[in-house]
Amino acid sequence: MTRPVAALEPPVALIAELTHRCPLSCAYCSNPLELERSSAELATADWLRVIEEAAALGVLHLHFTGGEPLARRDLSRLVRRAAELQLYTNLITSAVQLDDRAMAELAEAGIDHIQISFQDAVADLADASGGLKGGHVRKLAAAARVVAAEVPLTLNFVVHKGNIERLEAMLVLGEQLGAGRIEVAHVQYYGWALRNRAGLLPSREQLDAATATVAAARRRLAGRVTIDYVLPDYHATRPKACMGGWGRRALNISPSGKALPCHAAQTLPGFDFPSVRDSSLADIWAKSEAFARFRGTDWAPEPCRSCEHLEADLGGCRCQAFALTGDAGRTDPACALAPDHDIIARAIAEAETGAALVPRRIGGRRASV
Ligand code: SF4
Ligand code: FES
Repeated sequence: MTRPVAALEPPVALIAELTHRCPLSCAYCSNPLELERSSAELATADWLRVIEEAAALGVLHLHFTGGEPLARRDLSRLVRRAAELQLYTNLITSAVQLDDRAMAELAEAGIDHIQISFQDAVADLADASGGLKGGHVRKLAAAARVVAAEVPLTLNFVVHKGNIERLEAMLVLGEQLGAGRIEVAHVQYYGWALRNRAGLLPSREQLDAATATVAAARRRLAGRVTIDYVLPDYHATRPKACMGGWGRRALNISPSGKALPCHAAQTLPGFDFPSVRDSSLADIWAKSEAFARFRGTDWAPEPCRSCEHLEADLGGCRCQAFALTGDAGRTDPACALAPDHDIIARAIAEAETGAALVPRRIGGRRASV
């Protein structure tokens, strides 16, 4: 039995994708194949208005992300306005541009939390993965700046078959750098990353070893460092409630101002996603047909419709369903009960033979800031 959506609550989080520009060229980038140009980005005044509308709507958390949000010169101004409005501000960054000045400006503006992504624990391998020589050393220095500024720090490691064997070293690095939280994130196979799936997807054996490594580290670091770790969809039997449910907890704004239920949604055909240039956040949240399309459970097909797990996982990820089946309205193939689950088994088998990784490039050149 499906149930209609209960009274619509405001989104908990606003995800502000300030730009798609990025100094790195990771093969596992989950941003869409078509990136938005810097000339199309929202102006500072637009973002300030969006932040004010978010606070008025009842948003609690504001995540500044990208691309690389530090590529925007107005970042600290936006953080300051969000802090004035009592929003919890989180910067999600590669940190290669987080120098002394940027850190001082952010701290002074009132940033609440910074998450730095690392490609590996070994400098040469990390630089090769991110495509930026010297990038790892810059990240180490940036992490030290965050800790010195007494801003809570999370380290994010995206793990895949090429680096998962060094997970233990990554966890040790996170501890040494003073992170209060370490996020071990498996690659999400959207956008560019889906293209590289055969070269990235770890084997079941690698995954089991990684899970054991995390369990041991959690025991060792209990009370000091929190480790976030979620089993990757491809090796799980049930999908996750992506974004906490479509149009339920989060609003994602693309660099040009498109309002999306998640950052991958702009790849879905047949949707007319509203823009913050034309509509208020409150109207988008309450009235947009695109946000309503997969909200709640009324849209769900079988076997989800009569499944006891539907309220918990809402049928999995709509973007993954589209990427793998061509239909965003189908049960996420990551679910073992899904009619299309064999797609996952084939992908795992294909990854066993591996494939060369193609780094993210824009117009034949590496992305730049
Ligand atoms: Fe979730 Fe649908 Fe799978 Fe049931 S059938 S576990 S509701 S994805
Ligand atoms: Fe779009 Fe999961 S990424 S619904």
